[in-house]
Amino acid sequence: MSKLITGFSKFSKEEKMNWLANTFFDDKKTTVNTLKQYWNSDKKLQKLHDDFIENTITNFYMPYGVAPNFIIDDKEYVVPMVVEESSVVAAASLVAKFWSTRGGFKTTVISTTKIGQVHFMYKGNKADLQDYFSSKKDDLYKATASITKNMEKRGGGILNIELKDKTAQLDNYYQLHITFETVDSMGANFINTCLESIAKAFKKEDIEIVMSILSNYVPECLVRAEVSCKIEDYGTDNPEKYAQKFYQAIQIAKVEPHRAVTHNKGIMNGIDAVVLATGNDFRAVEAGVHAYASKNGHYTSLTDCEIKDGVFKFWIEIPLALGTVGGMTGIHPMAKLSLEMLGNPSSKELMSIMATAGLAQNFAALRALTTTGIQHGHMKMHLQNILTQLGASDDEKAIVTKHFDGKTVTHSDVVAKFNELKE
Ligand code: MEV
Repeated sequence: MSKLITGFSKFSKEEKMNWLANTFFDDKKTTVNTLKQYWNSDKKLQKLHDDFIENTITNFYMPYGVAPNFIIDDKEYVVPMVVEESSVVAAASLVAKFWSTRGGFKTTVISTTKIGQVHFMYKGNKADLQDYFSSKKDDLYKATASITKNMEKRGGGILNIELKDKTAQLDNYYQLHITFETVDSMGANFINTCLESIAKAFKKEDIEIVMSILSNYVPECLVRAEVSCKIEDYGTDNPEKYAQKFYQAIQIAKVEPHRAVTHNKGIMNGIDAVVLATGNDFRAVEAGVHAYASKNGHYTSLTDCEIKDGVFKFWIEIPLALGTVGGMTGIHPMAKLSLEMLGNPSSKELMSIMATAGLAQNFAALRALTTTGIQHGHMKMHLQNILTQLGASDDEKAIVTKHFDGKTVTHSDVVAKFNELKE
């Protein structure tokens, strides 16, 4: 029987689930029940989520946790995090507390501009194209006047329009390279709408517009977060030795891409969790961050470290295109709640908070890796997941957790201990 279907999007939710259950599952009743189990009883709220995308059949839960005790630029925060990896919020909380007694995190928003491009093909004379662009430039701004009006009131808009000759890379290829300030909105829709209007105004017979789209590469939307302390405050026994090992771990991530990718993945554990909790676009952030990590031609660490004159300094510099108004941030009730928890920050302040979350996560990972190793803490947290999977009751969980106190946790040992209880 073919599993292809036409008109699926026109089916009711019930019909969609039934078709899925009948076509792909052995136990149809359990499948439908599992899907329905995650429906929200508040019909209005469910409808809100149904309408975010096409073909919604249910909701997918992720844990929403909070990491307290962050001090960022002398302000106290509780940071909301949406993430399924068991150690992430625990690590953030631990590191927040640690640095709260060492001056907290200090941040600087270095730049806030974003880029959009109209890509086009032109086979004619280059000087003619340049003349045409110069004569048209005012019209290109005018073409977006109705769209940029409100943005300008908020202090944003189009900052610059440039003609770029890309024919050395690809025959006949040019672009309008446009710089935007979108203030507190992420600005994707604003930028794309502007670009399409500009493309329309720029078009003529011998100019073939290929596409108009924002770039998620945002190296000029950059934030830096930093911590520092005296070596003796590094907080381990033999702080000199372990601060040096931490420094070496960073140097390795700077030169070795296999390590750098994992190193940066750890940073993104913290950043993505806040991106999700605040209703921002994690795909855009991920794409922009990893491109930035290779901006010098090889993939490298996003964090850096210095040990000088008895002071340990650790920092991150990262591009983050975020919004605190518009998009999901204003529609998703939990995104709104997260932003309120953070004191309704501007997008600049949110850049600082997220960079801090990334730096904190990297600090936790490198500290663990260069001292006890990562598995110790990870498996301790994972123990609860294994027990849940085994169907352990709360009492059984408590007994097994106590048994593993101070011991190395392995999956097989947990299963063995759990089975022992059942005997
Ligand atoms: C795991 O999610 C993240 C780490 O692998 C990061 C790192 O190795 O730095 C622990």
